[in-house]
Parts: sequence; C-alpha cells; structure tokens
Amino acid sequence: MLILAAVALLAGARASRAAGGPVSESGTGGGAGAKAKRGSTTTATPTPAEQAALVAEGKELFNSVDAFGQQPSQGPTIAGLKVSCQTCHAGPAFTDNRTHVVGPTGSRPAVARQTPHLLRIKDTAPFAWDGRNPTLQKQIRGAITSPLEMNGSREPTAHELDALAAFVETLDAPDAVAGVDFDPVLAEQGKHIFEEPRGMDPSGEFAADVKVACASCHTGDKKTDRSFHKILMPFGDPVLDPGAMGDDGSIKGFKTPVLRALRLTAPYFHEGLGGDPTAMRSPVNSPPRPALLETVGFYNERFQMNFTPAEEQALIEYLMSL
Ligand code: HEC
Ligand code: HEC
Repeated sequence: MLILAAVALLAGARASRAAGGPVSESGTGGGAGAKAKRGSTTTATPTPAEQAALVAEGKELFNSVDAFGQQPSQGPTIAGLKVSCQTCHAGPAFTDNRTHVVGPTGSRPAVARQTPHLLRIKDTAPFAWDGRNPTLQKQIRGAITSPLEMNGSREPTAHELDALAAFVETLDAPDAVAGVDFDPVLAEQGKHIFEEPRGMDPSGEFAADVKVACASCHTGDKKTDRSFHKILMPFGDPVLDPGAMGDDGSIKGFKTPVLRALRLTAPYFHEGLGGDPTAMRSPVNSPPRPALLETVGFYNERFQMNFTPAEEQALIEYLMSL
C-alpha cells in the first residue's frame, strides 16, 4: 500500500520534473583542498609506530572543538555551538542517531541526512550517503570547512586529514553477543533469508526474471556493493533528496551502507526514517527492533519478498547480530 502510494506520488513528481536538472553537481562536500589518494592514507608505507602515532593524532583531532579554529556552527541542529567530529559521530557506533543539515551535497546545496556510523568503513569508498566523496580525506575536509558543520576558520593540512582518515579507518564497535543482543537460532535462519534470492524490483534495476536478495546489494563481509540504488523511492525522488545524480541529471539514489552494529544505530536510512518514506521522522535513539521491523516490512513491499511474520522476526535477529 505504502509503496504504491509513494510510487504514484513520485510518478507525478517525475512527470513534472523541471528540465533544469540538479541544483549543483560540482559543489560537493570536499572541494579542491584535499588531494585524492587511492588506497592507503599515506604516501609511503608507514612503520607500525608511525601509523600508531598518526592514529593517535587523528583521535585527538576527532575530539577537538578548537583544532581547526572552529567558529559557532550555522547548522540548524547545532547552531551556535563549537563542535568536533565527535559531537555528531558520538557513542559506541560513532553516530548520534539523528539527522543534521550538511552541505553542499551532490544534488542539493544542503539536505538533512542521518549521521552514519563510522564502523569498518575502510575500503568502502565512495563516502557519504550519496557517495559524493571519493576519499575519506575529501569527506573529512568538507565537515571541517562547512559552515553548517564545524565551520573551521582555517584549512586542515593534508597531514591532519591523513591523521583523521587513519583514525576513522580503525573504528569498530563491540561484536553483538549471542543470547544477549540477539537470538542465535533465529539469526541463523535470518542469515539464509537475507541471502535467498526471492523478490523482484518493480523499478526495473533488476531484470524481470532476476530474483532479488538482500545480499544482492549487501554483499561481502561489510554487506555493501558500494553502488547506488533507488531504495526509499523506487523511481528516485527529484523533489526531496534524490541522492547521487548522474552527469545527465538522472537519479542514481543512495549508496548501499556498511551493515554493522545495527543494534546501536537506529533509526535507519539516509533520512533516519526507518523504512517508511511517508512516516514522521523516527525519534532519536529509537529502539532497534521496532525500527528494524519497519525497515524489513518496507523491504518486503519494496521488493515483493513475501516474507512471513516469522521470517521477518528471523531477519531482524540476523540484523541484530551484525
Ligand atoms: C554536524 C554533524 C557532523 C559533524 C560535526 C561531522 N560529521 Fe561526519 N557525517 C555527518 C553526516 C550527517 C554525514 C552524512 C553526510 C551525507 O551523507 O551527506 C557524515 C558522513 C561522514 C563520513 C562518511 C561515512 C560513510 O560511510 O560514507 C565520514 C567518514 C565522516 N562523516 C567523518 C567525520 C569526521 C572525521 C568529522 C570531523 C572532522 C565529521 N565527520 C564531522 C555528520 C557530521
Ligand atoms: C537493490 C539494493 C538493495 C537491496 C536488495 C537491499 N538493500 Fe538494504 N540498503 C540498500 C541501500 C542503497 C540502502 C541505503 C538507502 C537509503 O538510505 O536511502 C540500504 C539500507 C539498508 C539498511 C539501513 C542501514 C543503515 O545504516 O541505515 C538496512 C538495515 C538494510 N538496508 C537491510 C536490508 C535488508 C534486510 C534487505 C533485504 C530484505 C535489503 N537491505 C535489501 C541497498 C539494498
């Protein structure tokens, strides 16, 4: 029902889409300051001691509210505060479980996006929900210099960006504990359901005869194919937040996120909606199982998975185990 309503809504929105295309393609969160480096965060392979020193330096910068001459932020959720990375990337999963206005993004000067966790994101470029930043350094520079975020009064140095990236690449959360955080028997069943091709995609990304599994996109150890998909809005949403856009103005959607410590990161998706694009924004620190039920129920309709309620419960326990 919900999906159909969203589709109808968007079909209209799509038809009335202006010919002008995206507001700004070139203005991304990064800018020219950070040089792109592939792979490792430093030019020469550092010794373990050098690497440890770099990570320690990055940790200090991560928690500092004055290292970059931060001025009071202009972001509506943190207006007037001098903030560090840790202000938003807080707690055991490095997210405050809420949205902030950040910008500029790939498709808009500014949008509200859920603070993503920073767990196991090494080698998962591109970064941000819309994947607009090809490197961690570029992502991080954007947060430091944006008036909506840290509003730093000086450019970070390349070394500082490398240190912050090196620190971020070390982050992980404690593993979920079987029998405490999740039901291990149900989780094992849920793992098979996660991997089983059974749905279909009415938006046409997958051919009509191809069956879709959660694991079609949430691939590998980190559960991300690092590609873009139109999830919340099957045909893309030019009016609200379309996510990544192609050079021709086509909507690509959002990057498949790393699934890790979901028990600590509710609500979900780029807008923190849980899974229902028509719902009110879920409250901060919403409990994970109801938010996961909302998410799984959403997927059930979105990809016509035909999950039974028991299968949904198993899937939730699997997601709680990640
Ligand atoms: C105002 C809150 C806020 C502050 C301060 C902030 N971030 Fe973020 N961060 C976000 C949000 C929101 C996103 C998602 C942006 C998007 O998708 O457009 C994000 C995205 C990221 C990502 C991308 C993660 C991924 O998997 O794609 C990294 C890495 C990151 N931030 C690191 C940092 C670091 C390091 C700092 C400090 C220099 C910092 N952030 C400061 C809110 C913040
Ligand atoms: C076609 C690719 C695709 C399929 C299939 C898919 N996902 Fe996703 N998943 C994504 C993308 C892309 C996002 C981010 C969407 C957004 O924020 O708009 C996402 C987000 C999520 C999130 C939120 C993570 C967070 O940190 O906020 C969860 C949980 C999730 N998916 C679980 C599942 C489950 C369970 C299934 C199967 C029932 C599934 N996904 C099927 C691509 C996919």
